[in-house]
Amino acid sequence: MPDNTQLIDHPLIQHKLAMMRKKDTSTQDFRTLLREISMLMGYELMRDLPTEEVIIETPLEKMKARKLSGKKLCIVPILRAGLGFVDGLLQLVPAARVGHIGLYRDPKTLEAVEYYKKFPEDLSSRCVIAVDPMLATGHSAAAAVNFIKAAGATDIRFLCLIAAPAGLKTFHKAHPDVHVYTAAIDRELNDHGYILPGIGDAGDRIFGTK
Ligand code: URA
Repeated sequence: MPDNTQLIDHPLIQHKLAMMRKKDTSTQDFRTLLREISMLMGYELMRDLPTEEVIIETPLEKMKARKLSGKKLCIVPILRAGLGFVDGLLQLVPAARVGHIGLYRDPKTLEAVEYYKKFPEDLSSRCVIAVDPMLATGHSAAAAVNFIKAAGATDIRFLCLIAAPAGLKTFHKAHPDVHVYTAAIDRELNDHGYILPGIGDAGDRIFGTK
């Protein structure tokens, strides 16, 4: 496992992930589980966010307390499956901004082409959490982070549910500065670029389109 990958193997996350993997888990349950996991994973991903001391007043006396300091957050889901992470992360940080990025692969050049992109203007002063449940080949994740960097972001983390070893390698080669947080590293990719054993098509399972 590359140094800048963190496997978040908390028992609750592993239990929920096992339920998501099952082929007969309903769309509704899949979505609920993903929202719950995104909160649990987000909690770990944000463990090192800086805090600062503030003086507050309880009903009884003044005290020193800690509050988040430093950069504000921006969540960037990679369309469309990345949307499944947004609600849970916003529950943790309701004031976070949300950018979006949509990519498709040009069938001739095989290059990732952006078809939609909308970021907050002050991306350079935010901590960006790029999200996509599946880090499969790593090409679209790497391309998405290229676009996020081109928009000015310098502090970027990547959150996924399942990564393939090949995808991690590709992604880290492109972006050694971006830490990846994942709940599982699965065996391999099949010929269609799906992760094995995986979860199937994350977008279809979240949105019930198959
Ligand atoms: N995208 C998915 O939705 N699933 C995979 O297994 C790989 C990429």
